[in-house]
Amino acid sequence: MERLDKVLANLGYGTRKEVKALVKSGAVEVNGALVKDSGMNIDPEKNQIKVHGEEIKYRKYIYLIMNKPEGVVSATFDNYDETVIDLLDPEYQVFNPFPVGRLDKDTVGLLLITNDGELNHKLISPKWHVDKIYYAEIDKVVNERDIKAFESGIVLDDDYKCMPGKLQIIEADGNGSKVYVTIQEGKFHQVKRMFEALDKKVVYLKRVKFGDIDLDEALEEGEYRELTEEELNKLKDAQCNNWKDNMNKV
Ligand code: URA
Repeated sequence: MERLDKVLANLGYGTRKEVKALVKSGAVEVNGALVKDSGMNIDPEKNQIKVHGEEIKYRKYIYLIMNKPEGVVSATFDNYDETVIDLLDPEYQVFNPFPVGRLDKDTVGLLLITNDGELNHKLISPKWHVDKIYYAEIDKVVNERDIKAFESGIVLDDDYKCMPGKLQIIEADGNGSKVYVTIQEGKFHQVKRMFEALDKKVVYLKRVKFGDIDLDEALEEGEYRELTEEELNKLKDAQCNNWKDNMNKV
């Protein structure tokens, strides 16, 4: 059970004070009856709530997929730069969402945004083995030795040994290389630092897959949409599978 004013405020109907006035004005019905007490307790999952005659769709969590643009930081607040949350409509911002993991300011591509802390935790924890796939452009020729190095676990500049990763070469010539990188961790600047350890530089980085979710190519950079039910289920199922795989290894 939750207070009616809290539920309406969380859904973006204004501050608690504004919501109180809204309820007082006779705009709100609960289970078909006009209510005047904004402090009444309701079950938002079960009770029918109408505002100005329109039934409201209650939900606790939102799940968004964004094609993150360059120049925007993956944070909820920043003193200098625009954040991915600033790009959202107020109707989503009222849910206090946050990005699932981080992409660097200059990295583009698939970013999940939610206010579901539990799902977030599972998705970013390396113990759940969720694959993240990146398309990367590298300044030099990437070769078989690099593939082997990714497989055996690259040691970063701070002596951290990465979990095994997969490197697939799309093309490699005198102008540099285009590759896909699959990793399950999300250390700070991880892909860039993995290539630095091989004396190579990432010049373009785009995340194209997170678990079983593909970047929606119909989304322009900076655009986002809600995950479909199917995508959300895939995300939750993928974790379970990975979790079981992981447990079997223990
Ligand atoms: N690895 C990086 O180096 N940067 C990112 O943004 C994501 C992974």
